[in-house]
Amino acid sequence: MKKFLLLGLLMCLSATMVFSLGKKDATGKYKIGVSMPTQSLQRWNQDGANMKTQLEAAGYAVDLQYAGDNDIPTQVNQIENMITGGCSALVIAAIDGSSLTEVLKSAKEKNIPVIAYDRLIMNSDAVKFYATFDNTKVGTMQGQYIADKLNLRNAEGPFNIELVTGDPGDNNVNFFFGGAMSVLKPYIDSGKLVVKSGQTAQAQAATPNWSTEESQRRFENIITSVGYGPDGEKLDAVLCSNDSTANGVTNALVNAGYTKDNFPILTGQDCDKPSVKNMNAGIQAMSVFKDTRTLASRVVSMINSLAKNTSPEVNDTKTYNNGIGVVPSYLCEPIVVEPKDIQKALIDSGYYKPADIQ
Ligand code: BGC
Repeated sequence: MKKFLLLGLLMCLSATMVFSLGKKDATGKYKIGVSMPTQSLQRWNQDGANMKTQLEAAGYAVDLQYAGDNDIPTQVNQIENMITGGCSALVIAAIDGSSLTEVLKSAKEKNIPVIAYDRLIMNSDAVKFYATFDNTKVGTMQGQYIADKLNLRNAEGPFNIELVTGDPGDNNVNFFFGGAMSVLKPYIDSGKLVVKSGQTAQAQAATPNWSTEESQRRFENIITSVGYGPDGEKLDAVLCSNDSTANGVTNALVNAGYTKDNFPILTGQDCDKPSVKNMNAGIQAMSVFKDTRTLASRVVSMINSLAKNTSPEVNDTKTYNNGIGVVPSYLCEPIVVEPKDIQKALIDSGYYKPADIQ
């Protein structure tokens, strides 16, 4: 009997341990460490700024750090300092989801909960929750957009397409590319869509660090080797997993002489300012909008729940296994933005001022 009581007590204790923050700092506040991957992409600057503003408004102290330009050792160091510096919780957008296992061991030892922000952190049991957008849906939206615009269901084809995705260390890439290919692969298999470069595998379509320069370089090689061009081989669509890679492809296409009158259908993600400008100019066809304010407020509400020793709200407990187990997740809703949607989704919502995207 005593044994069962003890076991029950232990189970209760470990359950409450999950729903709590680490210690408060010397000023009596909970300090939240926010680790962002880079300052060179607009979205992470916005994510960091939103997190800081919203956390401070909710009464937390914030230690916000950017890891240079996607520098993994810098991110590991910064997280180490957050742990030794008395942070009560860590919110981390990992550069490489598999590079934080070691450093997060001491977070676990100190009962500092880790929330994976936007990108899942792999192989660590310090990761208690994951807040992101529905990443598979982002990919299926991009694939479906191309399928609809080319009318793949009814048109005879064949159509030429090329594929561009992101950094191999970013777990999201599996979902973005996987979601898009769930729509496009049957058409590639049937021959209605043709990838003339032959680069159909995720690894071949990858772009290290999601770099605009890298995607431009790769796409220039594809244009040259296949002979794509306004007067050459026809290019009907380019699947790009996000805006930073779409911008590289755009540069390569514009340099090859493409204009708004013959531009291939080009997808993106984030509604970054340069891409919104390209949509307004009739070049990029669409982008998937993920309102970073929504994601930040979701994470703040997770932290509020932990501060009250209650369980944060999640809406997915199946999809995101980090190698140790499924991480309870909250998936926010992405939306498709085409030029006709820019006013409502991006201006009326207060995300951008008109001058930002002119
Ligand atoms: C994010 C995208 C972003 C990409 C590059 C991904 O993990 O989900 O929104 O475009 O990283 O920063």
